[in-house]
Amino acid sequence: MAQVLKHDEDFPKAGNHVKNPHSVLALYTGENIISATGDTWKYFAALAKPALQADVDASIIVRNTHNLINILLQEQKQTKRVNMIDNIQAFAIANVTEALLGSSFEALGNPNHPLLKLQREIKPKIFNPVHLNFPSLDKLPIPSREDAKRLVERFKTELASLVMKGHRHKCQSDSSNLGCRLLCAYGNGKLSEYHLQQNSLITFVAGHENTMILILSNLFVLAEKQELQEQVRQEIMGLSPEDRTNPDALARLPLLTSIIFETLRMYPPLSQIMNKRTASDVMLGEDILLRAGTYTGYNGYSTNRNREFWGANADVFCPSRWGETVDDMNMLYRRATSKAAFITFHGGKRTCLGQKWALAAHRVTMSIFLTTMKWRLDPTWPRKMTPAGPLMPKQLRLQLEQIQDEA
Ligand code: HEM
Repeated sequence: MAQVLKHDEDFPKAGNHVKNPHSVLALYTGENIISATGDTWKYFAALAKPALQADVDASIIVRNTHNLINILLQEQKQTKRVNMIDNIQAFAIANVTEALLGSSFEALGNPNHPLLKLQREIKPKIFNPVHLNFPSLDKLPIPSREDAKRLVERFKTELASLVMKGHRHKCQSDSSNLGCRLLCAYGNGKLSEYHLQQNSLITFVAGHENTMILILSNLFVLAEKQELQEQVRQEIMGLSPEDRTNPDALARLPLLTSIIFETLRMYPPLSQIMNKRTASDVMLGEDILLRAGTYTGYNGYSTNRNREFWGANADVFCPSRWGETVDDMNMLYRRATSKAAFITFHGGKRTCLGQKWALAAHRVTMSIFLTTMKWRLDPTWPRKMTPAGPLMPKQLRLQLEQIQDEA
């Protein structure tokens, strides 16, 4: 696995736009910072890195988390249980669009927002198992697929124009906002309209889906483990009120850190990806010859449970495996990533560029959740993970209880 992730020159990306260029999925994702290769990728990465690796603006996450919690508690009052996914998706969209793309979409608390509605229509068409397995069908003029293509085009255009609306000022190339940087490059003629659309879209998709899934999985594991939920709550309560929303202070808490790492290990949001193609004949390890043009990929779910690395209890949720101190944990995190025993963020040259931002935002969100509410699984929720596509607790339903004394 380490060979595939490290040797990008032997296993370059070949995303949907290369694999099945006529498919609805390819129209959706296109050529972007995740799928591009060579100089195109280098340029996209140079545009995105300074913005994605800048410090997170925690005030945006704090405001959105409080709004989210108000909505969730309202729903709990009315229906005695809360379906988490739609509100958490709107929350994750609010975070990514405001903090990274620099545009307020006001999607949180507005389930009828046109972009949310479009997303809800598009997703089942893209993740339709028949069309995922038989993408060649998209070559045929099937009316429902033609409709899907029109929806995707509309979504991309509306998304890019919403990003533009948020930037009526003059965009600067040295801005730390990704939306600004993309628009400045577009304005200077260095980025085509197509690449502006595809990179806005991938920021939107990668930025909100993965973060949404991490929150859902973390809520799920802590709902199952009430004692652990209380322990980590107490750990956060030990911080001053200001530090409870400070990503750096939260990153120094061992229990919170180990719970987040363990959730990411056991439930990698992108559990399986097949988007690399051998550039020439390559020996995989010592015995397997892969001919040029062979598709390869990875399964994060099983790789992250590698028993040789993690031991016989690799399938067990066990935060203490990460060590006692945050330094130990970060060291193991780096070692496991470099040995390809923890590939939730890919690792190597094409490692996730949003990792730092995602972890900082997640710590703040979890801290506010834990200090404001207690939660448990709704007993009528059928305990199931999604069977394919992104990995998460399926339609997670919780029962929430507000913590009255927040001091
Ligand atoms: C829990 C959250 C996240 C997880 C688990 C995650 C995971 C991943 C994975 C597995 C890849 C490699 C994809 C592939 O093999 O094709 C990736 C790439 C990437 N991710 Fe993330 N991601 C997360 C959050 C984010 C966020 C918030 C952003 C911000 C927009 C982001 C931006 C990117 C970018 C730009 C790349 C491409 C890196 C490159 O190829 O140079 N990610 N991510």
